Amino acid sequence: MKNHEDSWKNRKVFESQLALNEEELSNYPFHWHCFFEAVGSLKKEPDSLLDLGCGSAVFSVLCKRHLPNTKYRGLDYAQEAIDVASARWEADLQVRDYRELTESDLSFDTLHAGAMLDVLPNADEALKVIAEYGFKNLILGRMKLVEGESKTETYEAYDLITTYAFYHNMENVHSILTRNGYDYKVLGFPDNATIIASKEGLRLD
Ligand SMILES: C[S@@+](CC[C@H](N)C(=O)[O-])C[C@H]1O[C@@H](n2cnc3c(N)ncnc32)[C@H](O)[C@@H]1O
Repeated sequence: MKNHEDSWKNRKVFESQLALNEEELSNYPFHWHCFFEAVGSLKKEPDSLLDLGCGSAVFSVLCKRHLPNTKYRGLDYAQEAIDVASARWEADLQVRDYRELTESDLSFDTLHAGAMLDVLPNADEALKVIAEYGFKNLILGRMKLVEGESKTETYEAYDLITTYAFYHNMENVHSILTRNGYDYKVLGFPDNATIIASKEGLRLD
């Protein structure tokens, strides 16, 4: 099977994503509401948020609007994403693969990965890497969860590239998170879930 791991390294994709996000900023999509519900489940608002796979970095704007005291940094493996985002928003944005976080990245208290895990072919392994970094809080947006075995499909994104759709076996997610000391909660729906996980426990509903 052809490998699509690098397919996101495409400027047109991020120009399309930015155009979509600009519209969404006046009518938030479901998973953005889940993100804020997730933040509201934390015992304390994040001091700092590392946005892994930030794409065109719309979360830098959402943080400025709703979490003005939270320091933001966006990372993406695609130079094209960082170029498009940096031309539009003033934010700390850097090119980085999720497997290559620096000491400075690791000093952030909260890691957000919005719709990043589900575009990876090996997202169970990626979740393990992310959980083992030791961030106090994890917010994993737009996950696909299934009761059966984890599986990978492919789809066309923005009519431009072929990418992956990863479905995580829920028990596996549970075991990775709990083994690494996280309490967690699943928000949303199985095919569009946001997981909020914290080593400090979560607020009771
Ligand atoms: C579906 S987009 C989500 C963008 C953004 N987080 C959002 O919610 O709009 C997935 C993002 O993951 C990034 N990505 C894919 N593989 C990555 C990797 N190995 N390390 C870091 N980012 C990666 C892609 O470049 C893309 O920006």
